Amino acid sequence: MPHHKRIISGIQATGRIHLGNYLGAIRNWLSPTHNIHECFFFIADLHALTVDTDPTTLQFNARFLLATYIACGIDPHKHVLFQQSHVAEHTELYWLLGCHTPLGWLNRMTQFKDKAGKNKEVANLGLYAYPVLMAADILLYRADAVPVGDDQKQHLELTRDIAQSINHHYDAPVFTVPEPLIVAQGARIMSLRDGTKKMSKSDPSELSRILLNDTDEAIAVKIRKAKSDAFPFPGTIVEAQERPEAFNLGQIYSALTNQSLAHVCALWAGKEFSVIKKELIDSCCATIGPIREKIALLMENRDYLDDILRKNAHRAKEIAHVTLASYKHCLGLGI
Ligand code: AMP
Ligand code: TRP
Repeated sequence: MPHHKRIISGIQATGRIHLGNYLGAIRNWLSPTHNIHECFFFIADLHALTVDTDPTTLQFNARFLLATYIACGIDPHKHVLFQQSHVAEHTELYWLLGCHTPLGWLNRMTQFKDKAGKNKEVANLGLYAYPVLMAADILLYRADAVPVGDDQKQHLELTRDIAQSINHHYDAPVFTVPEPLIVAQGARIMSLRDGTKKMSKSDPSELSRILLNDTDEAIAVKIRKAKSDAFPFPGTIVEAQERPEAFNLGQIYSALTNQSLAHVCALWAGKEFSVIKKELIDSCCATIGPIREKIALLMENRDYLDDILRKNAHRAKEIAHVTLASYKHCLGLGI
C-alpha cells in the first residue's frame, strides 16, 4: 500500500494575499500528485507579529486568510484549517528547537537579510528566529511534506537540518524529516513592476501585485501598467530568460492556463505586449473573479469562520500535544 502523506502549510496573516501566494502555494496544496492523506493548513498569525500590526487588523487578516483558503477550494470539513496562535504548542516547541539551533544556521537565512536590510540592529528577535518557529509548525505535526513557493525552500532545509540533528542526537526518530513540495510552474511569480523582484506583500507599490480580492478593473489596470520591454514576445524559453518581464508575464499565463511555458512562448511568439496583456487580463479575471466573490460572501459570516477555527484548534492540538510531550520527555522535561 502506498504511504499516504500528511502535509502542512501556512501563510503569514496579512491582508494582501496575492497571485504569487495563489499560484506558488495555495493552488498546489491539494495537488492530486501529492498522494495526500491528511492536510493541515494554518494561518500564521504569530509570524505576522514580526511586522508591526495593530490588533484589529491582525484579527481581520486572520479571518480574511481563512476565507481565502476556503474560497480557493480548501474544504474546511475535510482538512484541518486552524490558526497558529490557538495551538500554544507551536510557541513551546519553538523555544525548545531554538535551544538546539546553532546561530550559524540562522545567519545563513537570506529572507532575514532581505527583510532586515541594513537595519539589523533594530530588527526584532522574532524576525531573526522566524524560521525556527516555522520548523516548530511543521515538526509538531510530523508532516511528511510541505507545499510552498520557492522562497521558502531555505527555511525547509533548515527544518530538515534541525529534525535530522535532533534525531541523530537521540538516535531515535523523534521528528519526521519533511520533504519540500515545490511546483514547476508558478513557484516564483515576480513583481509586475520589476521582473527581477519577487511579487511580495510588502512591496510599497500596489501595482506590483495582483490581489485575490482585486476587482476586474484593478486587475486590468495592473496588468496594462505592468512593466514590459520594447520587443515583441520571445518565441522560446531561452530567449524569454534574457527578458525578465516577458518571462514573468509568460510564466503567470502559463500557470493560470495550465500550459507549459514553452507552449505559451510558441503561442505568443512575435506578438506585441498590448495583445498578450489582453489575454492575460482575461485569464486572470476568470481565475480571480469567483475567488473574490466567495471571499466576500464568507467574510459576511464571521460566526461560521470562528466556529471552524475553534473546532480545528482542538483537532490540531491533539496531535501537536503528543509530539511535544515526546520531545519534552527526550529532553528530561517530562513528569
Ligand atoms: P508569504 O506571503 O511569504 O506568507 O508566503 C506564503 C506562501 O506563498 C509561501 O508558500 C510562499 O513560498 C508563497 N509565495 C510567496 N510569494 C510568492 C511568489 N512571488 N511566487 C510564488 N510563491 C510565492
Ligand atoms: N514562512 C512562510 C511564508 O512566509 C509561512 C509559514 C509559516 C509556513 N510556517 C510555515 C509555511 C510552515 C509552511 C509550513 O511563506
